[in-house]
Amino acid sequence: MKEIKIYSDFKIFDSIDELNDQIKVLFNEAKLIRESAYSEYSKFSVGAAVLLENGKILCGSNQENVSYPSGLCAERTVLFYANSKYPKIKIKAIAVIAGSINKINENPVAPCGSCRQVISEFQAKQNSDIELYFKGEKGKIIYTDSINNLLPFKFDKSFL
Ligand code: THU
Repeated sequence: MKEIKIYSDFKIFDSIDELNDQIKVLFNEAKLIRESAYSEYSKFSVGAAVLLENGKILCGSNQENVSYPSGLCAERTVLFYANSKYPKIKIKAIAVIAGSINKINENPVAPCGSCRQVISEFQAKQNSDIELYFKGEKGKIIYTDSINNLLPFKFDKSFL
């Protein structure tokens, strides 16, 4: 038997003012698109904005469905769009803002497992890490420079 320890690396920012201008803009876009969330059933709205290497910003929000599993998270909405529209352009960063529409959420909302898997897929595809920032409506922002920190044992194409 051998024990291994895996370390993950995060930075926690107290407020958006501590972020650089490009990421401030990215969060502002995520905040705006969150207003378009179709969160009819959960009343939990999420906005995600992706920064491409060419400086373009793309946005998406969660889209629910009465047949619950047919809905899609904000992160995957925008990532699939990014890879449809600009398949050859690398993704530099993704910013996510989320919370219930009934109460103020001050805790950073981490991407779900399926979204982590999809971020991981695009990291592998482009052969470079994607910076991830996530927050609640207010409060602290969590940053990590790679999805590897949130998904250490991942399923990838080496298994196929
Ligand atoms: N949701 C996201 O958009 N991203 C996540 O990473 C977690 C969950 C959405 C899905 C659903 O519309 C609502 O939040 C409640 O789960």
